[in-house]
Amino acid sequence: MCGIVGYVGESPISPILLDGLRRLEYRGYDSAGLAVLTDEGVAIRRAAGKLRTLEELVEREPIEGNVGIGHTRWATHGRPSEENAHPHVSGDVAVVHNGIIENHTELRREVRESGLELRSETDTELVAHLIALELAKGCDLREALLRTLGRLKGSYAIAAISPRVPGKIFVARANSPLVLGLGDGENYCASDVPALLPYTREMIFLEDGDLAVVEAERVSIFNLRGEEVERTLRRIDWSPSMAEKAGYKHFMLKEIFEQPRALEDTLRGRLNRAEGKIFGDEIGLSDETIRGINRVLFLACGTSLHASIAGRYWVEALAKIPAQAELASEFRGRDPIILPGDLVVVVSQSGETIDTLLAARLAKEKGATIVAIANVIDSAIPRLADAAFYTHAGPEIGVASTKCFTAQLANIFMLALHLGNVRGAISPERSAAFVEALAKLPQKMHETLLASRQLASSLAKRTRDAQDVLFLGRGLSFPIALEAALKLKEVSYIHAEGYAAGELKHGPMALLDELLPVFVILPRDEQRERTLSNLEEVKARDARVVAVATRGDEETLEKVEDLLDIPEVEPELSPFLTILPLQLFAYYVADFKGTDVDQPRNLAKTVTVE
Ligand code: M6R
Repeated sequence: MCGIVGYVGESPISPILLDGLRRLEYRGYDSAGLAVLTDEGVAIRRAAGKLRTLEELVEREPIEGNVGIGHTRWATHGRPSEENAHPHVSGDVAVVHNGIIENHTELRREVRESGLELRSETDTELVAHLIALELAKGCDLREALLRTLGRLKGSYAIAAISPRVPGKIFVARANSPLVLGLGDGENYCASDVPALLPYTREMIFLEDGDLAVVEAERVSIFNLRGEEVERTLRRIDWSPSMAEKAGYKHFMLKEIFEQPRALEDTLRGRLNRAEGKIFGDEIGLSDETIRGINRVLFLACGTSLHASIAGRYWVEALAKIPAQAELASEFRGRDPIILPGDLVVVVSQSGETIDTLLAARLAKEKGATIVAIANVIDSAIPRLADAAFYTHAGPEIGVASTKCFTAQLANIFMLALHLGNVRGAISPERSAAFVEALAKLPQKMHETLLASRQLASSLAKRTRDAQDVLFLGRGLSFPIALEAALKLKEVSYIHAEGYAAGELKHGPMALLDELLPVFVILPRDEQRERTLSNLEEVKARDARVVAVATRGDEETLEKVEDLLDIPEVEPELSPFLTILPLQLFAYYVADFKGTDVDQPRNLAKTVTVE
């Protein structure tokens, strides 16, 4: 939520800051601003609305300098407006901030009582004032920031500049991502890797409680006690073009079509085809630990939760271990019970979702072994986990997650298969068949995307005026129904529900009429017959039915007007394919409606507020 970028060096500063913000716009897009140190002090440019408005302002009123910070906002405290846009200034200090300061009411009172004028409704302005109040006591900026951080409760990534310390950006983090980028005679900071990819791949991921000073020739990192600390330098292998649209109209469409490649990269080096197993080293669990697992508990939010629900089926089917998938936000809302032998698998594309991070922390405090499945290297969740099993989908820019969903499915399936192999819960023949089937999946995904593109688009044209859409599935198709509904809601703003097909008669059937499009997901598996009966029930109530089924399923074809087909695949692997036409459908509905596909209203890519 919200994006931060900062630069210290000799190159023209505005293009670097604006380009960084453009690459971060998916993190927040209701207002944006820049602060640059100039000969006259701090120059500020801020504008409500999309980044384009700020770019136009900077064209009309250029700023030059060697040190600057920028911000793109997703409103938390205070509506989207120029006054609430960052940077916020107090005295000669300019501050940008991601996250939420929870004790803002108390701090606001204190700032008011000190006689300082509040010009915005934001919690960030309070941070700027607190720093200014500390500076007034005579300390330097680093000390003033340290003292201020000690007063803040909540989550933050902060960057601050002031002409009293030219040539330096001060940054700090707690529960909100922040990365430093190292260049040659120039250095950077940002809330997310894609902002820096065109400039450097040498990066340092800050940890909670770090305060860093970024200068052109060096970066120095301190803990909250002011002691200098070392952090690992990482080389990121994402390329800048991975974060470009590459001729596609939207990132979402590009990322949908990237899925065969993302899956191939995620499987690479992990399939032991010679022995029909998974190379399980990265999963980081000893065979002894695996044999001692009594339960697998997945924790995640949104799309990552849907991948986890598929994981529940796979862990039970392949490893014969009881499994659950839980909403991370609800897990934290109780006093959950973690028992010896619990393996907690935390799934998060960004690795920074605050609800998931805090749930993982709680599970860890209660003694669980944690495996993280994440896409962003060295992000907070994998860092907290006992082992990090990364997906290799590349940067996902569209707010609606697509390629990371299928990459998560791959890691979760490999994990389940590995557990099954170590525990002897699956026969070597069946395991080898799955490994071979996984290796063939990228090609099948490619075929599915090409074959369903046209029909998904024509269905979208016919459905764009629908008020509601229902998605039904059983077994492994249930999480796909949930995910398809989430995709449609997010990007098209049409109300949609995903339901377990067996639940239909327990309530949702009352919704059925000739205006309601119903998508029934019934690949060839052992649930198909029962789902087909549900499809009949839906048809009998005059609803418009579309099926997602296996190519050659004549029986289903006879019953529906439209059938989105997938190639023949092992029933356990059908989710990798059934989701594809439904992602395309959601995309095309949104595109026909003209919504902001990559940056849907009110949403942000990484949710770092509770
Ligand atoms: O980064 P995460 O996987 O932890 O994010 C979880 C959800 O915020 C995310 O999946 C969200 O639901 C997406 N916008 C779905 O497309």
